[in-house]
Amino acid sequence: MTQVKILGAGSIGNHLAHASRKLGWQVTLCDIDPAALDRTRKDIYPARYGSFDESIALSSPEEVSGQAFDIVIIGTPPDSHVPLALAELEGRPPKLILIEKPLCPPDLAGCDRLAEQARAAGTRVLVGYNHRMTEHTLLAGRWLSENPIGPVTTLRARFREHWGGIFDAHPWLDGPADTYLGFTRKGGGALGEHSHAINIWQYFAELAGLGRITEVTALLDEVENRGAAYDRIAQLSVRTESGVIGTIVQDVVTRPAQKWLRMEGRDGYLEWEVNATPSHDRICLIRHERQTLEEMVEKSRPDDFRGEIEHLGELLENPDGKSPLDLGAGMDTMRIIEAAIRSSREGRRIRVDYDAPTPDTQ
Ligand SMILES: NC(=O)c1ccc[n+]([C@@H]2O[C@H](COP(=O)([O-])OP(=O)(O)OC[C@H]3O[C@@H](n4cnc5c(N)ncnc54)[C@H](O)[C@@H]3O)[C@@H](O)[C@H]2O)c1
Repeated sequence: MTQVKILGAGSIGNHLAHASRKLGWQVTLCDIDPAALDRTRKDIYPARYGSFDESIALSSPEEVSGQAFDIVIIGTPPDSHVPLALAELEGRPPKLILIEKPLCPPDLAGCDRLAEQARAAGTRVLVGYNHRMTEHTLLAGRWLSENPIGPVTTLRARFREHWGGIFDAHPWLDGPADTYLGFTRKGGGALGEHSHAINIWQYFAELAGLGRITEVTALLDEVENRGAAYDRIAQLSVRTESGVIGTIVQDVVTRPAQKWLRMEGRDGYLEWEVNATPSHDRICLIRHERQTLEEMVEKSRPDDFRGEIEHLGELLENPDGKSPLDLGAGMDTMRIIEAAIRSSREGRRIRVDYDAPTPDTQ
């Protein structure tokens, strides 16, 4: 039976434990904070899924440190992701490591080392941009290949969501300064927390053959508030290798949330939306005056993670299979975050250097 260890029994740790159990996997959920394990058993898991699943082993990381796992999932704050992944590779490397988004803080510390050590250990490292694996995204890819919309003129994405919902889900936190969320440099703020927009933009750019983002011009609204220091709005203008320009906007102030992408083509357009209604993702492809395809894909919150976890199962069967979640894609998203911060602070356009060496971890 597939053995999964999840580090971090917080919000995402519970989601991914539940998704793993749905596939019948044996789950060990670890946290350094005994209160988090207690909350998992008594509050989070039962509130979300009806009752706690007693087959999930709850433990401290030390208790299982010598044990072998097929998959390790890292669902802790971003500034711990890379050090924890490196520690797993130095111990008993699993077949797969799934690191939650964002991969790391904007300095990308340790990323090159992680890539090298993973290669040496034969471990596949993935980054959890789950929206790449949801049903409506897969449908969008199929529709685009079967119903071409002509050369792409521009691509726009936005993930704009007030973070009150996140704090409602974490009532034990006092506010942004209490967690990484309140610090851009730790992987929080709008750029880190809502990096799904940059990432899904890159995904559709790749599908359309636009190449990688080469230039970024950004304006950030950076605030300092009760000890926290974060970007609350990030507006990016980008250009790709093929010369196509587009926009990406992320913020932690918009209510109700907008999670949307539009690919504009010469002959039509594609629109992609998460939570178009509370229980639907929406996909729509229009070929001007010829064809309209639209589907509201019914889903629940657990469905947001189902495709991602099923994908892990497929990679265990076929370790060399293609994956849209590979470490390289997660690193590409971090390169854009880093460039956006520099662009805004220095007031200039930044060329993205994907080959720049990343600093080592402390
Ligand atoms: N893909 C998504 O849609 C999605 C949704 C929620 C969160 N996330 C991401 O997941 C990560 C965690 O977010 P969260 O909301 O679950 O945070 P959280 O604060 O709810 O939980 C994090 C947990 O990690 C624990 N932890 C810290 N260091 C640890 C260590 N070394 N070993 C084991 N446990 C440790 C903390 O005690 C805490 O309980 C973030 O990177 C966040 O962006 C992604």
